[in-house]
Amino acid sequence: MDFKLSEEQLMIRQAARDFAQQELLPGVIERDENQTFPHEAIKKMGELGFMGMMVDPKYGGSGMDTVSYVLAMEEISKIDASASVVMSVNNSLVCWGLQKFGTEEQKEKYLIDLATGKKLGAFCLSEPEAGSDATSQKTTAIEKGDHYLLNGTKNWITNGGSADVYLVIAQTHIEKKHKGINAFIIEKGWEGFEIGPKENKLGIRGSDTHSLQFNDVKIPKENRIGEDGFGFKFAMKTLAGGRIGIASQALGIASGAYELALKYSKQRKAFGTEICNHQAIAFKLADMAVEIEAARHLCIKAAWEKDQGMNYDLSGAMAKLYASKVAMDTTIEAVQIHGGNGYVKEYHVERLMRDAKITQIYEGTSEIQKIVISRSILND
Ligand code: CAA
Repeated sequence: MDFKLSEEQLMIRQAARDFAQQELLPGVIERDENQTFPHEAIKKMGELGFMGMMVDPKYGGSGMDTVSYVLAMEEISKIDASASVVMSVNNSLVCWGLQKFGTEEQKEKYLIDLATGKKLGAFCLSEPEAGSDATSQKTTAIEKGDHYLLNGTKNWITNGGSADVYLVIAQTHIEKKHKGINAFIIEKGWEGFEIGPKENKLGIRGSDTHSLQFNDVKIPKENRIGEDGFGFKFAMKTLAGGRIGIASQALGIASGAYELALKYSKQRKAFGTEICNHQAIAFKLADMAVEIEAARHLCIKAAWEKDQGMNYDLSGAMAKLYASKVAMDTTIEAVQIHGGNGYVKEYHVERLMRDAKITQIYEGTSEIQKIVISRSILND
């Protein structure tokens, strides 16, 4: 067994680290406060190849492996989890699904622009009454000759306002339940497609989350992804990979908070010495270090399994469940180590603590991950 990262993987990690320090750190507090989308940074991430990391170069991607994607996601998330969710959705939920299941025409028309970062994608599954219970889709896409008519509402859509291309899951044959669901490619600006107001969120405030409304939106037949009725499986397979992205985001939030806490504990003095010399603090740092390393191993293992062509449903769910818990626990402790300073914005850890929470909610709550994990181990 070889735990050593390749030269290329190390270079990608370093490039992401440098980019995050130089381009994302400046202004991250203000973007969080004002809910400002990092347009410029996302554009540069596209130019650096971070928006279509696993896409084949013939479709404008970087042709990297999933392990490299995890490494880059960790580095970007350490500094700005709002930027990293934009990156994760575009890479895992949009580009990956289009590359894997799209037609040649769909790839030419949409994937190239998405992978190069010229355009941004969104993945639209959740509804007011279908978040975790994803089979209960109320949005309908009914066949009308050469097109489908799309009607319904989607909720909590990441990149909802800033995306150009939307993958929308909808029910076509209601009587067939989840086997009647389809996935479609929709473009911003199509008649009948309205974007609702931006959600005012606890964390990842630099990313934009919206509800979407579809009123008789006409979708050309060639914009359906896969065979008729493939939509639910498309969503599940796509989300299985998406969970590796969010697990890596959680890992980055945790390791970012840990690095800040470690540095602070070596500078801040109390009771005549640096606070890291008190076991109360040193033991917290020890726990954080172990948990983060374990989360990193789970993330890289899931990514490696994906790269090997193995099934990664279980490892991806485990990585997300554990890394998101570590993100929550670590950021709370990082605030604690910072004391009063941890509670104010300048020290970054309060933002990381707020950002951590969403990793236990989106792309499947922790409870959903436990469903996936328990079903997998019980059926083994
Ligand atoms: N790969 C392929 N197929 C899969 C699959 C997978 N990983 N998981 C399930 N399926 C298939 C099953 O095999 C089954 O197919 P058949 O009927 O042909 O056998 C079908 O899908 C239905 O599966 P289940 O019976 O297991 O369905 P369920 O209703 O019990 O739900 C669930 C399973 C895991 C709970 C699923 O509903 C789920 O993952 N829910 C969470 C959805 C989610 O993550 N929502 C978050 C929204 S996206 C988001 O957050 C994006 C963003 O903007 C950041």
